[in-house]
Amino acid sequence: MMKLLVIGGGGREHALAWKLLQSPRVFKVFVAPGNAGTALEDGLENLPITAIPDLAEFARKEGISYTVVGPEVPLAAGIVDTFRAAGLKIFGPTRKAAQLEASKDFSKAFMQRHGIPTAAYVTFSDPVEAHRHLEQKGAPIVIKADGLAAGKGVVVALTLAEAHAAVDAMLVVNQMGDAGARVVIEEYLEGEEASFIVMADGHHVLPLATSQDHKRLQDGDQGPNTGGMGAYSPAPVISPALHARIMREVIQPVMSGMEQEGECYSGFLYAGLMIAKDGAIRVLEFNCRMGDPETEPIMLRLKSDLLTLVEHAVNGTLNQVEAEWDRRAALGVVMAAHGYPGTPRQGDVINGLPKTTLTSAAPEDIHVFHAATRLGGKDGKEIVTAGGRVLCVTALGDNIKIAQRRAYEIAGQIHFDDCQMRYDIGHRAINQRRK
Ligand code: AMP
Ligand code: GLY
Repeated sequence: MMKLLVIGGGGREHALAWKLLQSPRVFKVFVAPGNAGTALEDGLENLPITAIPDLAEFARKEGISYTVVGPEVPLAAGIVDTFRAAGLKIFGPTRKAAQLEASKDFSKAFMQRHGIPTAAYVTFSDPVEAHRHLEQKGAPIVIKADGLAAGKGVVVALTLAEAHAAVDAMLVVNQMGDAGARVVIEEYLEGEEASFIVMADGHHVLPLATSQDHKRLQDGDQGPNTGGMGAYSPAPVISPALHARIMREVIQPVMSGMEQEGECYSGFLYAGLMIAKDGAIRVLEFNCRMGDPETEPIMLRLKSDLLTLVEHAVNGTLNQVEAEWDRRAALGVVMAAHGYPGTPRQGDVINGLPKTTLTSAAPEDIHVFHAATRLGGKDGKEIVTAGGRVLCVTALGDNIKIAQRRAYEIAGQIHFDDCQMRYDIGHRAINQRRK
């Protein structure tokens, strides 16, 4: 029987830990740092450690068989390099490979070197040149901070005034610190967005079930960009033909490109794509991790043992396995705190959580994954909000519409003050079916 470690504390990590624990060969999954949801599930245990050397020391002492990394920050800081150097098995890209997400400039240049389709771009560190470029190109145009900015580094400027303001915020006022010391200015693309996520072992890839998230805060895809207000799987926009093209035009060239550059890619790889009306595929971004909230519906649909997939990925034998998926659809609705995506209010008490969140009973068809929650309140036993995206209420159903109805039924029973939630998660998939 094995003990595992999941790094991170959001909804994605709750879903990964929950799924890993379902393996008959796992008896405990530590989650560092975890949240109230992972604290309360039998078999999961939170670990209040964040420093990478301390995590490696814990993994060695505790005899952790495999570590799975959720977020990009520890990956970009080299957690995989540290663990590997200590002889510990860990699933994720190295610090250098994580540059695909951690530096937009690296990522764009990499795509150019390897013929991967993406928007035309220029990188600037001098604000005067950046402003001049904006005047030449006009709006709409997209300005991206080079470094990691927790999902806040992209400004889709519909007017030149917004574009100039974004350049000033990043290059002059240094609003994003080092992350905004360079900016990528790129062509504005139109179309439908889709996410495509694979597991990679350095040489082979295993595509996960397709998914799509909703980035805007409000119904009808209005309001500010967020990390994602909900997601569903499968995503009908990814037809089998498009799936094959994404593998050929995007995923395989990343794998061979990284190999050629001496930095074989292993870990989850997430391509954010724009599919134009004429079917052209363009990469908006790479993430070196799973998506959040995409992970939550994807894990609810995964029937295979996630530990087995991780073992094959770490050992370079992903070509020997297949993933089995529930034929039903899954949909997750994010319940976010007051103030998100700005500065979220914390400490609001959450009521009405269904009992299923407190056990890890085998296959379930709904699960409330916790994201920013902690134990607190009067006696330290209440579950309170602790950040922006608080919960992801996820349900399976025979189709997206049924999954949607069930997710909203459960979400409707959960309460915390001034909760922000979209009521139309899944609308694109449902409308596509109608067409
Ligand atoms: P990114 O972090 O690069 O995926 O950007 C966040 C969001 O900004 C994406 O999900 C898109 O909605 C939007 N976006 C990014 N790049 C572009 C682009 N070149 N054209 C239009 N929208 C974009
Ligand atoms: N949901 C988008 C992301 O995880 O980047």
